Amino acid sequence: MRFLLVGGGAREHAIGAALVRAGAEVVVASANANPGLERLAAASARIDPTEAAAVVEFARRTRAEFAAVGPEAPLAAGVADALRAAEVPTVGPGKDGARIESSKAFCRELLARHGIVASPKVVTPASVEEVDRAVAQFAGPFVVKPDGLTAGKGVWVQGADFLDPKEGAVYAKSLLLQGGRVLLEEKLEGEEFSQMAFVTDDGVYPMPAVQDFKRALEGNRGGNTGGMGSYSQRDHLLPFLPPADREAAIEIVRKTAGALRAEGISYRGVLYGGFMLTAGGPVLVEYNARFGDPEGINALTLYEEGNFAALLAGVATGRVDPNLVRFRLRSTVVKYLVPPGYGDRPRPGGVLELDLPEIEAEGVHVLYGAVEAAGPGAVRLGSGRGVALVGEASAIHEAGSRVEAALRHVRGDYYVRHDIGTKEDLARRVEHLRQLRAPGAKPSPLPLSVAAPDAPPSSAGTPEQLHG
Ligand code: AMP
Ligand code: GLY
Repeated sequence: MRFLLVGGGAREHAIGAALVRAGAEVVVASANANPGLERLAAASARIDPTEAAAVVEFARRTRAEFAAVGPEAPLAAGVADALRAAEVPTVGPGKDGARIESSKAFCRELLARHGIVASPKVVTPASVEEVDRAVAQFAGPFVVKPDGLTAGKGVWVQGADFLDPKEGAVYAKSLLLQGGRVLLEEKLEGEEFSQMAFVTDDGVYPMPAVQDFKRALEGNRGGNTGGMGSYSQRDHLLPFLPPADREAAIEIVRKTAGALRAEGISYRGVLYGGFMLTAGGPVLVEYNARFGDPEGINALTLYEEGNFAALLAGVATGRVDPNLVRFRLRSTVVKYLVPPGYGDRPRPGGVLELDLPEIEAEGVHVLYGAVEAAGPGAVRLGSGRGVALVGEASAIHEAGSRVEAALRHVRGDYYVRHDIGTKEDLARRVEHLRQLRAPGAKPSPLPLSVAAPDAPPSSAGTPEQLHG
């Protein structure tokens, strides 16, 4: 089987590696020359992954039988539609299904239309003049979100990104003045987790739950990023996530897949629910239309060897053999090595020297992201997340310790969050949920108000990229 892989980050490196382990051939269309993908690909080309015509042409030239689209931007640009039109079965929704990620208003409206109780209070001011009145509708803290794709960086949370509601209002107005739509949402209290699933015509197939670390700096300070690292637990739950709450999240994902189908949208790909586990259960923070990065790396590390290519071919063609959806019972920790200043003012150009045999000897795998090759065992950091190290073990903190041990074999100037997957961090999160759920705790904002945003859906086809 020959797969075209669209995208050149560490998530795509993990997808490519899993396909090659399954005996498939991989050809890669990406803007950058990812050193990991270059090594394993049968062919690769420097193509803007959002340029549908160029991607299709490359698929034809390389006789790709299937395709998998990694990042959100090509999905939002209709690259999966173009590949399907060229008769290349593809993992990744068309532009219509990708709106679940590329328009947060579409996502909330879809849930409201289908009575899926999973949203906080949402208000969408239609104009700058309406912002102050919209802000006044929140008795407590709120969140300001641009409607479109922002690479995880456009959301402002009260208490973290701004303190005074007036500052949030100014930010919301500035977004509206730039021409986009804006959502104001009630701030959810709890612990976040990612529940991804393969979705195709014949069903929804969940992956292990994962927790991502969104904030740039240790202690969850600094700005929101695409994710600095992530962990998953042996039993596919999380230390703070009991089975019933994971099931409730999976049920929301199932209902959402059903809602998409009911609206005539054929969705073949990965649907990723970003949830907040609140005192009252899981509430949806957002959907993504693809594997998480880094969360996809956790899931792919756990995938049972052998049949990943058959699984993806099944997703792309609408029929999955459930026996192929199997994940090992191990814990994983991913940590991203990023350029100094990442999240705010990244300083690219630094060289990392990786002693690969020593890193592998620690039981840790290396996945390359925004880096370029710089000689044997060396890579040069770009502005994005550079190198992902993934460790696995029986317990989460052991997997984290493996990654820390592997860091001894990396030289160069980089930043990494050492607090991901430590016993202390895990205990804090368990305690956070325990306190929220304790009898007599401050009443939660639930039962949920499923407020349909009060503005009509945008007529704009492609949402603008606000923050790259
Ligand atoms: P999103 O791009 O929607 O994933 O938002 C980025 C991050 O902002 C999320 O991962 C959360 O940490 C935070 N966030 C978004 N919406 C909310 C909300 N309603 N309440 C609390 N935090 C939120
Ligand atoms: N790690 C968050 C994302 O993939 O969007």
